[in-house]
Amino acid sequence: MAHDHLIEMLDLDAEVLHDYHRDLIGWVGREAVGTPHIVDLGAGSGTGSLALARELPGSTITAIDVSSQMLAHLRSRADAAGLGDRIRTIEADLDLPWPDLGPIDVIWAASAMHHMADPARALASAFDALRPGGLLVIAELDSFPHFLAGTADEGVENRGHAEAARRRQEAGLHMHENWGDRITHAGFTAVTERKFDIDLRPPLPAAATRYAEVSLLRMRHGLDERLPPSDLAALEKIAAGVAGRDDLSVRTERTVWLARR
Ligand SMILES: C[S@@+](CC[C@H](N)C(=O)[O-])C[C@H]1O[C@@H](n2cnc3c(N)ncnc32)[C@H](O)[C@@H]1O
Repeated sequence: MAHDHLIEMLDLDAEVLHDYHRDLIGWVGREAVGTPHIVDLGAGSGTGSLALARELPGSTITAIDVSSQMLAHLRSRADAAGLGDRIRTIEADLDLPWPDLGPIDVIWAASAMHHMADPARALASAFDALRPGGLLVIAELDSFPHFLAGTADEGVENRGHAEAARRRQEAGLHMHENWGDRITHAGFTAVTERKFDIDLRPPLPAAATRYAEVSLLRMRHGLDERLPPSDLAALEKIAAGVAGRDDLSVRTERTVWLARR
């Protein structure tokens, strides 16, 4: 169930933050010349793989994830979009030595590097796997989406985010790393960093309302026994009522690094 919510949330992220994703994919498309072989690390529901396949018509994509459920969803989306023959999926744990993937022109890692047990080792694997001159793209979240800023409910949402951040830290996730420094340290050059400050104001489309609902429910279910019962109940009530609201916004910050092998 939790994974179903994550799949839907990742798909909605790409749909609702469409302008950011289009901007980012366009940037990568301009940097990745020719007909690249692209490897999507921690590909998840496949939003990056599909967008890159569409942006770069001659490209082939290898989508890697540790979750067979994610890859099954990605495969069905790719087939439905007529992109199935250009996207292969590999189930692998990227914390272990990487499988042989052949020559790679682009490595794309969106919200994936922070999951790596040892980011330095993952970056060293990326460096080894990329061909000289190849492109590394790392996109990370500076903040998870906030939907209730400026409303009477922003306090409980903020407390939820603060506790979720503590939980991620305890779980050993590498949020808020200086990926620019890490990339340089791994031997990459021409490191470029771009910050994306996303602020969508009402009225929002229906997909954004659903994105808020799924995100708030995921937050609530991840915080069992970590927030007071009154906050958990409030989050549930807010999630159940988002469809009738006209005061939701979407605020989140992302940073993207591009670098050359
Ligand atoms: C937050 S999701 C991001 C998915 C996708 N890149 C996106 O931007 O929507 C992180 C993904 O990394 C995968 N993942 C986490 N640890 C992994 C590992 N050690 N090896 C391979 N995949 C991993 C998860 O299964 C999940 O699908």
